[in-house]
Amino acid sequence: MILVKLGGSVITDKSKLRTFRRPACERLARELKVASADLMLVHGAGSFGHIEAKKHSLHKGLRSESQLAHVASVQRDVRELNLKVLEALIDGGIRAVSIPPAAATTFRAAEVNTFDRSMFQKVSDIGLTPVTFGDVVPDESMGFSICSGDLMMAELAKAFRPKTVVFCADVDGVFDRDPKRGRGAKLLPVLDRAGLRSLRRTSAKSADVTGSMHGKLERMLAIAEHCEKCMIVNGNVPGRLERAVSGKEVVSTVVSPG
Ligand code: IPE
Repeated sequence: MILVKLGGSVITDKSKLRTFRRPACERLARELKVASADLMLVHGAGSFGHIEAKKHSLHKGLRSESQLAHVASVQRDVRELNLKVLEALIDGGIRAVSIPPAAATTFRAAEVNTFDRSMFQKVSDIGLTPVTFGDVVPDESMGFSICSGDLMMAELAKAFRPKTVVFCADVDGVFDRDPKRGRGAKLLPVLDRAGLRSLRRTSAKSADVTGSMHGKLERMLAIAEHCEKCMIVNGNVPGRLERAVSGKEVVSTVVSPG
């Protein structure tokens, strides 16, 4: 099995509220079609989630009743994105079906409390491709919290032990310094725990309620324990995802427990 996350920075314009990048998503769907094994998919929320979630502090949980209207509307927006992603996938020939995170998972303190793999298993067993996503979810200690797509990637990796895990982002991989803040950054073909420790911490420029790049890489290192290969590829460069899911050499960073 191959587990793929379509990052919110690839399928949406993260700086413009609720802006879907349909052509990019349709191309990625066609690239996924050639995968050499069954797929499980996760997508981020991008500008359908982060901007409003940050504005109303939804990542901090229930603090005032006035947030609830925004919980409802962000959840609605994320579902709208999910529907658009499903359309693109189905048009590209992928038999995608949606499984919202809260249908299989309970949350406490913004972490997964319980995870039930059975729905993903059933859907996959009959030849369909499960698709889950970053969402606003009920939380046993905070009222509600944000479930990132990365959190679902970690649960699915633990439960299904995929051969390959691919994070499809808007960068070629991990660089020795932030490539968006100047020239001369070098792509790291492999990143292990020691390598991560030596990277300088940088913060995301756009609204992001699910943490820094550093935090994402920590989660990827944990995921790498459950698969043969865990990698980041640039989804904005045509053909990279296709090469990754068909097991070919590709420009990327492979995250390895070391
Ligand atoms: C965020 O999910 C979910 C919400 C803000 C509701 P992700 O953290 O996985 O989304 P991206 O990939 O960064 O956009």
